[in-house]
This record gives sequence, structure tokens and C-alpha cells, in this order.
Amino acid sequence: MSAPTNIACVKYWGKRSIALNTPINSSVSVTLDQADLKAVTTVTVSKTFKKDRLWLNGVEEDVTKSKRFIACVTGVKNLATEKLDSSGEVLVDKSEWKDYGVHVSSMNTFPTAAGLASSAAGYAALVACLAEVFGAIETYPGELSTIARQGSGSACRSLYGGFVAWRMGSDNDTGADSLAEQVFDENHWPKLKAIILVVSDEKKDTSSTEGMSTSVSTSKLLGYRAKEVVEGRMRGIEKAYGEKDFESFGMITMQDSNQFHATCLDTYPPIFYMNDISKSIIKLIHTYNKWKGKIAAAYTFDAGPNAVIYHLEEEGEELLALMLMYFPDDKFLGSLVGSEYVNNEE
Ligand code: DP6
Repeated sequence: MSAPTNIACVKYWGKRSIALNTPINSSVSVTLDQADLKAVTTVTVSKTFKKDRLWLNGVEEDVTKSKRFIACVTGVKNLATEKLDSSGEVLVDKSEWKDYGVHVSSMNTFPTAAGLASSAAGYAALVACLAEVFGAIETYPGELSTIARQGSGSACRSLYGGFVAWRMGSDNDTGADSLAEQVFDENHWPKLKAIILVVSDEKKDTSSTEGMSTSVSTSKLLGYRAKEVVEGRMRGIEKAYGEKDFESFGMITMQDSNQFHATCLDTYPPIFYMNDISKSIIKLIHTYNKWKGKIAAAYTFDAGPNAVIYHLEEEGEELLALMLMYFPDDKFLGSLVGSEYVNNEE
């Protein structure tokens, strides 16, 4: 099965509980199309497997102590149902699944850990795949996303297509209400597109998890953002997306990206995810918007220097030409937003 990546418009940055992987603020993202950026995952289960194993892009990773991986496997096994054969005979009783080991092979079609949310696609595909194998059934909507969240926060949003909110929740004992919700499906705004500009495919030097932890303990701006800013932006951007109002959508997206990077700079010691090329892209987009006389393109940057530029279909060619003229050495991935998400044909 495969799952796509998602790019947040209102960012998640900061954990309320490290153990539960719950956030200090809600966030919202657009799930990209499967065409370019996805994780393709295969899961095999057997009683004869002595331990759980994972191969990432063909290289085995030791998951025996990985709390994230174990949380996903155990979480899905807890929702498992019995497996029947074609005549209705019970092949595996649900209580037996716990004795099954899992072998997972996962490939990313894009740079791992370069700030293109590879962990989001990876853990979403893992949970979707495990759920299929174990016949897992949610006891309430979004329950599987609470499991993916424990793999990687942003992964909870990749289980759905379209415009997806991760509601921070308030349950600090179980994290059961910190879950993803599809606000608008993948067919709502077909004209919305994204261009991905891979400025660097090197692994980032400060992981999101580590960066968030330092930001939470040192940045006052981050606390202010979580308490005073994010909820208003969530309401504003949901309204904009619902009304297909690109200017408001784009403005909030750019402001939120800028504030996230400002909190990184306010972290002590500071974290720099954007580089000089990223900053030139920001300048170029503002110049482009001025020339158009409206917000016609909106950038956003996650924990890395790579840019995602949201725009409407009609500006696609012009923007691509502009990017190629100014950044001829960088690799573009034109990517549709929408149509497919978790795909069980691969
Ligand atoms: C900047 O989801 O990778 O992309 O929960 O520690 O795995 P962990 O973090 P992760 O952080 C993503 C941060 C972000 C913003 C976002 O996607 O909302």
C-alpha cells in the first residue's frame, strides 16, 4: 500500500506530551497527490517471525527499541479482528494476532528526512497497511490516526486526502482525542496545485523531534503562537479553503510558515532550516504576487530548505517557467494536490 505526504499550512511545532506524541497546537495540511511523493509499504506477518523487522529503502533498521514503530504495531493489533477463510471458517482468532511478528519493507519516492514529511507518508502507509493485514476496525472515527500520530505527529494527517486538520485534543491521559479529521475531501478544490522545489536533498541536521523539544523549552514566541495565534488561523484557513478563496488561504499559509521559522530562530540555540535559496524563493514569490496584483502563489517551508508553492492551476506554467529561470539547478516536482491518497493497489 502507499500513502502520500502532506504539507502543513498551519504548522505543528511542539509536543504537549512526548510519551503520547500530542501537540501544543492544532495544525492543518493539504495531502499531496500520490504521483510524486509517497511511501510504498509492504507488510508480511507470520507466527514464525521471531521479531519485528523493518527495511527502509532497502536497508534494515533496528526497530526492536523503536517506541514509534512498536506503538504503531501494538496499536493496530489492539484493533485487530479475526480472519476468516472463504467458507467463513476462522483462520486466525483475534487473540492470536499478538503472537504474529511483522516484517515491513518501505520505500520513499522522495528524499528521506529532507523536510518533505517523509515520516508522515511512511508511518501513514505503515498504519494503513497493518490495519489491512490485521483487519483492524476503528471504534471511533479517526482512531487509526491516533496510532499513526504515535509514529510521527504529521503522519496522522496523511491517512486522509484533501484538507486535513489534526485537532490537538485535551485528553492528556490517553491522547485518544488528538486525531486527524478530513475537513474537505480531495475533490473539493481540484484547481489547487503545489510545486515542490527540492533545494537540497540532504538529511536535515536538526530533526523535527529534537528541534521541537528545544523550541518548547526555550522559545517564548512558540508559547505565544500556540496560545494566541493558531486557533484563529485554523478557523480562517478552513473558511478560505471551504470558499476556495486562494488569497486568504495563501496569506495564512505564508504567515504561518514565517512564524514557524521565526520560532526556530527564537529557539536557543537557534535552528536554521531555510537557506539562502529558500529566502530567495520567498522574495521571488512576493515579487510575483506584487506583479500579479494579488496573492497568486504561496510558499511554505517545513523543517528543511525545500519549498512548497501552492497556486491555482492557471498560474502553473507561469510559475514553473519563473522557477526554472531563477533556479535552474534545482529539481522541480510538479505535484497535483488531491485525487488519491491511501492506495491499496501497490
Ligand atoms: C515542520 O511530524 O516530523 O513538518 O511528531 O516528532 O515525528 P514528530 O514530528 P513531525 O514534525 C513535522 C513538523 C513540520 C510541521 C507539520 O508538518 O505540521
